[in-house]
Amino acid sequence: MQRAETPPATILTSFFAICQSDPFARTLLYSEMPRYYTWNASSKNLQRRKQGDAVPGYPDVRSTDALGRMSTVHPKNDECFYLRLLLVNVRGPTSFERRTVNGVIFPKYRAACEELNLLENDTHWDTTIPEAIISASPSQIRTLLAVIISTCFPLNPCNLSHKYKDNMSEDILHQIRVSSRNHDIEMNEEIHNRALLLIEDICYLMCGSLLIRLGMPAPNREMNDAFNRELEREREYDHQELDLVVQTNVPLLNSQQKEVYDTLMKAIDDENGGLYFLDAPGGTGKTFLMSVVLATVRARSNTAVAVASSGIAAHC
Ligand SMILES: *[C@@H]1O[C@H](CO)[C@@H](O)[C@H](O)[C@H]1NC(C)=O
Ligand SMILES: *[C@@H]1O[C@H](CO)[C@@H](O)[C@H](O)[C@H]1NC(C)=O
Ligand SMILES: *[C@@H]1O[C@H](CO)[C@@H](O)[C@H](O)[C@H]1NC(C)=O
Repeated sequence: MQRAETPPATILTSFFAICQSDPFARTLLYSEMPRYYTWNASSKNLQRRKQGDAVPGYPDVRSTDALGRMSTVHPKNDECFYLRLLLVNVRGPTSFERRTVNGVIFPKYRAACEELNLLENDTHWDTTIPEAIISASPSQIRTLLAVIISTCFPLNPCNLSHKYKDNMSEDILHQIRVSSRNHDIEMNEEIHNRALLLIEDICYLMCGSLLIRLGMPAPNREMNDAFNRELEREREYDHQELDLVVQTNVPLLNSQQKEVYDTLMKAIDDENGGLYFLDAPGGTGKTFLMSVVLATVRARSNTAVAVASSGIAAHC
């Protein structure tokens, strides 16, 4: 606890300290510091070099050709990345807390970098997307935006997505108009939210991050839960049609298939649950059997979700 509250000095925090007291240090970038100072690991402080070339204007300072090494930081590790960016650009930093540029303290390192014009602006993304809109489908534009925000680190992903939200949602609007048979429905927030959810799904697949971690607004998952969507689809079957499928196909099951079918149906009817493994050579009607089982369950207005793990699906 004590160690966490008063952590030992590091090379970086010692550099902050000498920048407060040493006018020469204030002229340096963190990466330049090792040319003039050495780190005393036992007393944990930085000391001016005693040997080396004289530095004009600073009689007590000696310079060598020592090179400093700074750890690299992936841009995904965002605040850490922007802190490092500041350290290689801002002379004489005095603390972690003071993300100060021209007297203004910024809430985030990123914002301070932005103010110092250290970041590329989003102009090229702002021309890329409209270019894509000319010929790409809304779903392709969503994928493009997902690629941009999860791998290209734009300055202001929020603005980009806001600007093109209509263009990325047109297919969803169309689907809703068709499924509700109402062509007067206009673009609305819920539709934008659905687009955002789809974008989040792609980002999550690509880099394992939710939108909120990528500088974007978090979509409202409750408003449109992924599982509910599956469930909704499960409720849209035409029961009469399924009944017919069951009536025609159950008599076509051979004796072994029928045995499996009866076993599964009994487990469902008795509400015992269970885990069953069906193994048989290819072409012997496993898929046919499963489709009859699914149809039977769905015909009774129950929910049957068919899923496959990729390894197994690859064998089928
Ligand atoms: C973005 O950067 C480009 C080139 O660096 C510059 O020409 C343009 O004015 C900048 N746009 C904005 C909005 O700052
Ligand atoms: C994007 O959609 C908006 C609203 O429908 C439209 O005004 C705009 O022209 C579209 N952008 C492009 C580049 O086509
Ligand atoms: C983002 O949008 C806000 C308002 O919507 C605007 O104030 C801000 O300047 C925009 N940022 C950029 C980088 O364009």
